[in-house]
Amino acid sequence: MEDQTVKVLQADITSERVDVIVNAANEYLRHGGGLAAALASVGGEEFVADSDRWVSEHGPIRSGDAAVTVGGRLQATWVVHVVGPRYREGQDNPALLRDAIRAALDASARVGAETVAMPAISTGVFGYPLDAATEVIASQCIRWVQQHRGVLREIRLVGYDGRTAAAFRRGLERAIAAAPPTGSGSR
Ligand code: APR
Repeated sequence: MEDQTVKVLQADITSERVDVIVNAANEYLRHGGGLAAALASVGGEEFVADSDRWVSEHGPIRSGDAAVTVGGRLQATWVVHVVGPRYREGQDNPALLRDAIRAALDASARVGAETVAMPAISTGVFGYPLDAATEVIASQCIRWVQQHRGVLREIRLVGYDGRTAAAFRRGLERAIAAAPPTGSGSR
């Protein structure tokens, strides 16, 4: 029986009906642009207020950490916010991105999520080259489910546009070829 699936889809992640939507956030949960602004616009006041409350209670999100807020009017119970790397020479960009993905999946497991929608973190405002980032994200998701059997039922790698979805598909195929998971596919 397939108990865990990592799949790719092209969609607007703000419309996904899942337990957790992962946000490509900044440290202060100032949802000013990109995906964060789209989530704030759909999630509404409750989502924005819970983001502000989180930062005032805990301070800025550190690299490798996650913040959990309610989804507000999103069709997701929770939003898990992680900060991907601002792509730069001279730092270990893949390691920083892997840490962000691990933090997102760990936090999703902690709230008891079964389904998670994951965007192409860092590939917008933060400038991480798309093919490199999607491969890191896909392979880290595969590694995580292999290390946490039966914890999350489904991870959806969501590309907003066809180019991002195609990059996620290639990344997932490479990750699966490197280490066959239990139950994987794409649509
Ligand atoms: N559904 C799915 N993916 C989306 C959506 C959407 N509705 N909107 C944007 N995206 C995609 C972008 O196409 C990109 O592939 O999310 C990915 C991440 O892009 P950004 O949102 O720019 O995130 P990032 O590069 O990590 O930069 C984070 O941007 O908006 C700010 O507050 C955010 O300061 C933080 C920074």
